[in-house]
Amino acid sequence: MKFFVDTADVAEIRDLADKGLLDGVTTNPSLIAKTGRNFIETIREICAIVPGPVSAEVSSIDAETMIAEGRKLARIAENVTVKVPLTWDGLKACRTLANEGTMVNVTLCFSANQALLAAKAGASFVSPFVGRLDDIGEDGIGLIRDIREIYDNYPDFGTEILAASLRSPRHVTDAALAGADVSTIPPSIMKMLVNHPLTEKGLATFVSDWAKTGQTILNDDDLRTV
Ligand code: E4P
Repeated sequence: MKFFVDTADVAEIRDLADKGLLDGVTTNPSLIAKTGRNFIETIREICAIVPGPVSAEVSSIDAETMIAEGRKLARIAENVTVKVPLTWDGLKACRTLANEGTMVNVTLCFSANQALLAAKAGASFVSPFVGRLDDIGEDGIGLIRDIREIYDNYPDFGTEILAASLRSPRHVTDAALAGADVSTIPPSIMKMLVNHPLTEKGLATFVSDWAKTGQTILNDDDLRTV
């Protein structure tokens, strides 16, 4: 499963990219507003840090303007993925931009039929919002499972399932079990993925037991192999 980070915070992106585990980035208008920075400049900076797909969302809701905005966003860098909402206008914009060779992420997906439409419109990614479905008492991970089954029935679909609106480490595990191709994860959740109390406890024991040996690997001159 690919890991995208769900943020427009360049410092956070740089930090996670340095760990070597980042396959892409997703942003949305709310995340851009949170930075208080210029949109185009921020996307350009993110694209230079992460070579993988970087989602930049259109701000209009009619197809014609979405297409014009998408073309402009696509010119920022080769790895820009234009994000459009899952509406008829968004799907029309998706088809046009995809035909021009631009990667498109169709966002705000809340049903399997919407995901079918995104695939038929040539989307590179569809973003089902797991957390927001859970928020209203529906089954967000169940939707990922359904979309996986449907897409697997039609191998010609080239659309990747991008599990979005993930709110906990458990969501990441469940999205992987359900067969999502990508998880987009907020930085705070991504940093939690490594944590386990037994890892910390076990490491503390190994460190203190090693100290008792009085040895250091790097200062050991004996390079013979047994
Ligand atoms: C990503 O593409 C989505 O915009 C994001 O995951 C939405 O997450 P939220 O429901 O926590 O705002």
